[in-house]
Amino acid sequence: MQEAKKLCIASDHAGWQLKQVVIGYLSSLDIYPDDLGCYSEESVDYPEFGKKCGEAVASGKYDAGIAICGTGIGISIAANKVKGIRCALCTSPEMAEFAAKHNNANILALGGRTTSPELAIEILNTWMNTEFEGGRHKRRTDMLDAM
Ligand code: RB5
Repeated sequence: MQEAKKLCIASDHAGWQLKQVVIGYLSSLDIYPDDLGCYSEESVDYPEFGKKCGEAVASGKYDAGIAICGTGIGISIAANKVKGIRCALCTSPEMAEFAAKHNNANILALGGRTTSPELAIEILNTWMNTEFEGGRHKRRTDMLDAM
């Protein structure tokens, strides 16, 4: 995902708190993602926000996105329903490394209730600073994108 120029971020209520941490951290790097909601801890439905994030990235308006729900599972499933989206739920820096290197994940999903803020930032940094390897992996991501 290296050198993403424009990022968006979305969450449900269960991901809202971690989203604030991520937005705060990114602002310390001078990166200001567009927040596509939700905007409080009032209960909402994660499919809506996964879809929003997926469609925003697929439209080309954003280079990549970050999607957060309680576990990261539901919102990643929703984002992956959008054609062209390769959303990776990562629970470790190693997963984030390969999500970038091999899958060229254009959305990183995180779990607000399952991943600590410190670990989430490590995961985010790894994803942002790891380059796609291309080559045989490009052939495979092309296959994904054709689905
Ligand atoms: C909301 O309670 C929770 O189900 C949601 O945030 C997420 O974990 C779903 O996968």
